[in-house]
Amino acid sequence: MSYEKEIAKRRTFAIISHPDAGKTTLTEKLLLFGGAIQVAGAVKSNKIKKHATSDFMEIERQRGISVATSVMSFEYNNTLINLLDTPGHKDFAEDTYRTLTAVDSVILVIDSVNGVEEQTRKLVEVCRMRDTPIIVFVNKMDRDGKLPFDLLDEIEKELKISLHPLSWPINMGKEFKGVYNLYNSSLNLFTASQKATEDNIVPIPDLNDKVLDAKVGERDANQLREDVELLQGVYGELDVEAYLKGKVSPVFFGSAVNNFGVKELLDTFIQIAPVPQHRDTDKRTVEPTEAKFTGFIFKIHANLDPRHRDRVAFLRVCSGRFARNTYYKHCRLEKDMRFSNPYSFLAREKDIIEEAYPGDVIGLFDTGNFKIGDTLTEGEIMQFTGIPVFSPEIFKELVNKDPMKTKQLEKGIRQLTDEGVAQLFTQHGGNRKIIGCVGELQFEVIQYRLLQEYGASCSFTPLSFYKACWITGDKKKVEDFVRFKQSNVMEDKDGNLVYLAQSEWFLNTERQNNPDIEFHTTSEFKTAMV
Ligand code: G4P
Repeated sequence: MSYEKEIAKRRTFAIISHPDAGKTTLTEKLLLFGGAIQVAGAVKSNKIKKHATSDFMEIERQRGISVATSVMSFEYNNTLINLLDTPGHKDFAEDTYRTLTAVDSVILVIDSVNGVEEQTRKLVEVCRMRDTPIIVFVNKMDRDGKLPFDLLDEIEKELKISLHPLSWPINMGKEFKGVYNLYNSSLNLFTASQKATEDNIVPIPDLNDKVLDAKVGERDANQLREDVELLQGVYGELDVEAYLKGKVSPVFFGSAVNNFGVKELLDTFIQIAPVPQHRDTDKRTVEPTEAKFTGFIFKIHANLDPRHRDRVAFLRVCSGRFARNTYYKHCRLEKDMRFSNPYSFLAREKDIIEEAYPGDVIGLFDTGNFKIGDTLTEGEIMQFTGIPVFSPEIFKELVNKDPMKTKQLEKGIRQLTDEGVAQLFTQHGGNRKIIGCVGELQFEVIQYRLLQEYGASCSFTPLSFYKACWITGDKKKVEDFVRFKQSNVMEDKDGNLVYLAQSEWFLNTERQNNPDIEFHTTSEFKTAMV
């Protein structure tokens, strides 16, 4: 197959949602269609418990499995689909943000009963920063949820995205009869079944056809006619280009658990979802069609089994063809490396692969060479950008409980933060170490892993900081600021200066008092996420 065809064949995406909206269920149904799994429940059993606040041993137990389910590749109608999993637990939100840098589009699942929820907002904000195309799947139509027009309104307002319904529900809850597909003018009748893989579809090109009345009853048929007229007046034809630019999001309605509306979602997805897209680096934009291989690491997974200490680095191929046993340049270390056992995630088997193409995600065994964001090329020195670090929400000081193990602690904390488990801030001109995380769970993970893997014991002292802001600006002004605010200025892992603000009030005051200094809430100093 030609190189262009290999690229055109691929779709790399993630499903995002607030926990419990139905991400796992939808994933599972998509995998069933792709033949990647044979029975329902296969994905579910791997799911990390979402509600437990301190259930991290369980997470560790499942880590082995979750490596395999981090990326799920399958073929559907001659399209190679790479579905990247994102953790459900909110304490692992950073992991999700990073995974979103490796996809070309997302499917957003919204619970029709709960509407837009907290994590939905954050995730969509991250997508908007990169103009990632979004398809919305309104799930749980078999339950009495919000009215569809109200829901669209809520999603548009709350998430600041423009929607374009491609299907429209006929009632909901017990009365739910199905959806009318506006994209290909067919009626999809609802049957509550967890097993069905084919939907019950009746083409109805003309809505005035009496077949509609026969299928759903006169009252609902008339309501649908009214709704569709309104929708067509408001939305017209879907502008696929606008979708691809992340400006408008098609919407589908369905019920994942009943496997309803999933096939039409998938069919439309493979038709309109973007093929592997270009990626920006600090030097230039890399097009997927370029002949030379490039890629970046967006996730690192540690193996907790003490007999197998190596880690797995997940690489997204951005351009060219990746080949096994070939030397590539590790740009940050300026070192040539080759990989004898790269593997793919096709059908959830870890298969050693000979080659990979743009859009593919491959697993590379790593003995500590990689950090999140590392770039591999055929020789050109550059760094892929767009993998920002956000300000943590919880800060704690790392306390060494065993001075005999200081070296191990230093090494351990560096390696764990390379993996992206947490952020490490070191006192500017000192040795005090502060760990920043999104959730409490990470502190437990760090403490446990430092002891298990590095033999170092530590504890944490809570600190009441509100946000970490990377500071840039006039050199002299920054130096003065650092001198005055010594106890609040730290360095991140790459030596960038970071100001730790005690509260929003302090941050605003410092912003006002220091107009020549910029306070950024992401490490890439682009769009701020406050
Ligand atoms: P998540 O990954 O986004 O966290 O959600 P997940 O798929 O685990 O779904 C959360 C719950 O919602 C599950 O129920 C699931 O069965 C249910 N669900 C998913 N899709 C639908 C749907 O279309 N309609 C209805 N009514 N429910 C749906 P659970 O009780 O938490 O788990 P389980 O015991 O059913 O496995």
